[in-house]
Amino acid sequence: MRRRTRSAPSVGILGVGYMGIATALAFAARGRTVFAHDINPKVRASLRRGRSPYDEPGLAQLLRREVRLGRFRVLDTVDELAQRAECIFLCVPTPARRDGAVDLGPLRTAVNALGRAIRAARGYRVVVVKSTVVPGTTDEVVEPLLRRASGKSTAALSVAVNPEFLSEGRMVEDAMRPARIVVGARDPRARQRLRRVYAGFPAPVLELTPSGAELVKHGSNEFLALKVSYANELARWSEQLGTDVDTVVEAIGADPRIGTAFLRAGPGFGGSCFDKDLRAFARRGESLGVAPRIPGTVLAVNRDQTAHAVELIRSAVPSLRGRTVAVLGLAFKAGTDDVRETRALPIVERLVADGARVRVHDPSAVENFRALWERTGRTGAVQFSRSVGNALADADLAVVQVDWPVYRRWKPAWSRRMRSPIVVDLRRGIDGRLAARAGLTVLALGRGSAVGPGPGGRPRGRERR
Ligand SMILES: NC(=O)c1ccc[n+]([C@@H]2O[C@H](COP(=O)([O-])OP(=O)(O)OC[C@H]3O[C@@H](n4cnc5c(N)ncnc54)[C@H](O)[C@@H]3O)[C@@H](O)[C@H]2O)c1
Repeated sequence: MRRRTRSAPSVGILGVGYMGIATALAFAARGRTVFAHDINPKVRASLRRGRSPYDEPGLAQLLRREVRLGRFRVLDTVDELAQRAECIFLCVPTPARRDGAVDLGPLRTAVNALGRAIRAARGYRVVVVKSTVVPGTTDEVVEPLLRRASGKSTAALSVAVNPEFLSEGRMVEDAMRPARIVVGARDPRARQRLRRVYAGFPAPVLELTPSGAELVKHGSNEFLALKVSYANELARWSEQLGTDVDTVVEAIGADPRIGTAFLRAGPGFGGSCFDKDLRAFARRGESLGVAPRIPGTVLAVNRDQTAHAVELIRSAVPSLRGRTVAVLGLAFKAGTDDVRETRALPIVERLVADGARVRVHDPSAVENFRALWERTGRTGAVQFSRSVGNALADADLAVVQVDWPVYRRWKPAWSRRMRSPIVVDLRRGIDGRLAARAGLTVLALGRGSAVGPGPGGRPRGRERR
């Protein structure tokens, strides 16, 4: 499986961010020769030294190995990329504009540069849109732009769509072993080339039109976000009824028609994709006359859920003014250092606004969160801790925002460091028996009552009917 497949086309990756690096290394690990270019010289320099700018399970080792084996090579110009790679994947950002529509600026810039570079390249090229774009973008924007910039006809250049479905926190694993490979291409040669590039991946290749493939990506993200919002609404039901949302979603998800994946309550979803993709999908649907209602509802439930998490934190102490609160977990989920759209930001902002002194900790994302916090223009109000113990020293309250394994293994010594050992657990990662042993009172989102050292824990009042 790891042998170099000589006949497979060489791969190009344009844009080596979270998605680009996982894609590049998955191809390299399956024996493809991968050339990569990023516009950011710091990213190029770091990757060339075999150092990952992103922290994800398995990424650092895989990168070092593929650089050493020469299967992953960083190029300084897009011209070299167009010369050397036969199948080039666009992995550049597609952020949201203020009005929710996609900002196609970065994609247009990349496509223009790539098109001009391909003008000088000899041989047949396939350019593949792997960035997430709303249905119709490849046919209406990418292909015309690429043909104009490259001057190439359909004989020399094909355009295809191949959306990426990886989840951060497990992106290497997902990219190596995807559930399915979706290809949107009209040209049979492009489909054939993509099948060869993906040879050896243990997944079915599903072939659609370019717009169909784009719709699959947005439809998938909307459905996953819907599952999260659905679980979050069930969490609020559970709190009112005095039951545990995890037992409820487990039983619902045991139905194979539903499944448990992503049916997980928390402080609302974050990450770079769901929010922007749902807003872009809604805008595109409106312009096509689809009048979609689901994206708006999912996003509204998500916003409410973060506000609900803040209310839960407020309910744990009589007042937050002058209290010390430790916020544990700053990434948007466990397993990644990505803080884009993390719920930690609005939560910390609210706590600071309520007059709390906030200490924050994360095993991987502290520096990224510090940069994000400083971009909000607020410095000093938040203390960045290197250890859980430091974050908890004399704290009146701790909030688990992300269920990193380190927080799940709560140490009794941590409770002793706190002025009052109370945790608001927004992910229900801390086991009740462990909490009791650690002398901790846990107020968990999605559960009807607090658990802790007292008999039956501290009831949350209104949940008891
Ligand atoms: N992150 C994910 O989990 C994920 C999953 C599936 C799909 N996607 C999609 O993949 C795309 C990229 O997302 P990401 O999270 O990797 O973004 P990112 O911001 O982490 O990375 C994008 C990279 O592209 C580079 N870049 C920007 N313009 C460029 C240009 N003209 N030429 C070369 N490089 C350029 C940037 O320097 C950056 O390193 C988006 O469309 C996103 O929606 C992301």
